[in-house]
Amino acid sequence: MINLIIGTQWGDEGKGKIVDLLGETADYAVRFHGGNNAGHTVVIGEKKFPFHLIPSGILRPKTVGVITNGVIIDLEVLLKEIEFLKENGFSLKNKLLISSRCHLIMPYHKALDEAYENARGKNKLGTTRRGIGPTYADKVSYNGIRVYELVNWSAFEEKFSFQAKIKNKILKLFGVEPINIKKSLNEFKKYREKILPYVADTFKVLQEAVKSKKNIIFEGAHGVMLDNDFSPYPFATGSNVVTGAVNTGAGVILPKDTNVWGVIKAYLSRVGGGPLPTEINDKIASLIREKGWEYGTTTGRPRRIGWLDLEAVKFSVKVCGINKIALTKIDVLSGLEKLKVCVGYQYQGKKIDYSECGYLELTELEPVYKEFSGWSEDISKIRDFSHLPKNCQNYINFIEKFLEVPIEIISVGPDRNQNIYKFKDRT
Ligand code: IMP
Repeated sequence: MINLIIGTQWGDEGKGKIVDLLGETADYAVRFHGGNNAGHTVVIGEKKFPFHLIPSGILRPKTVGVITNGVIIDLEVLLKEIEFLKENGFSLKNKLLISSRCHLIMPYHKALDEAYENARGKNKLGTTRRGIGPTYADKVSYNGIRVYELVNWSAFEEKFSFQAKIKNKILKLFGVEPINIKKSLNEFKKYREKILPYVADTFKVLQEAVKSKKNIIFEGAHGVMLDNDFSPYPFATGSNVVTGAVNTGAGVILPKDTNVWGVIKAYLSRVGGGPLPTEINDKIASLIREKGWEYGTTTGRPRRIGWLDLEAVKFSVKVCGINKIALTKIDVLSGLEKLKVCVGYQYQGKKIDYSECGYLELTELEPVYKEFSGWSEDISKIRDFSHLPKNCQNYINFIEKFLEVPIEIISVGPDRNQNIYKFKDRT
């Protein structure tokens, strides 16, 4: 069985928990795109496990974590995650595989990300400043350095020095401190020793796994609204987020019976700049932010908040071929008197679809809302759909009907056990 998990909004939909649930019996948990700009948190009892690079499914005893070619790696971050897991009693022996085709996030990529953001001033994009854009830019312009080069140290030294010298010239133009090449090379030499034992031909491993019908979970990062092609570019991330990224990022063609899960948060959040048609800035937004603890896992930034935007989510469903939905954080909405859901966009007096919009249209359009009555009960202990307050049921049923995809998991709290599975008593 193959499960692919995709964030349908602007990231932070609660994918980590869904991955953890569906990965229960997985043989392989795979990260196939993005870098440590992503952040998944898995809560087990009192303990929080934040993941940025390592597939979070690795917490299960038999699951092997795989980082495939589409992922870009900051070695310092990856090694810290490996250490954290070891300190918490998770042995990684034969549990982690890394493709030699992964590109490396270099110190100059982070410096360039920072320099570009600072230079943009009030037009800054709000990137995570983790070097994501500059690393993918080097990848497509043949200036990248991969794990592959790390295997052959003299090739690495030569390529790194060449690139760093060029990047230092650019950094100088920005008035930024250049990279100390010698110091960096010494650090990479240490990282190399620690990372090489995990390097493997992940293509072969996954081809074999698909052929022998192993249980695989592909952990999508970010959200479709940040996809490099389908976002309101340039308010994007550097990678493709949509289903096709599994093919380019891991070399796998997904079988027809793959479960393509769309994770939808019951409201909306976003970190960074760019248009957010349903954004709210009032007391309700603060309430949701505090109750849902909407602060970035990666950067700690307070997240922007908005009403659920079903026009955008419907686009994600179509572009990714989503066939199952996991609805998260619905418990956060308890206590609100009224709820709104965006069911379409109006631009200059006419209906406009998400697919027709660039960032200018998305900034100026008017969301069309459907209003719902709220519920006051705490729903975090409910495990049966029919026990949910009627108004909560109405809200969920509406989403399902609008998207024409079954909602199979409803998460009503951060813990592994706080879920309603399927609809037993569909009304
Ligand atoms: P970058 O990926 O660091 O270049 O940032 C580009 C945009 O994507 C910024 O608005 C980030 O806040 C956003 N972003 C990237 N990854 C995530 C994520 O995993 N969750 C939420 N936002 C993200």
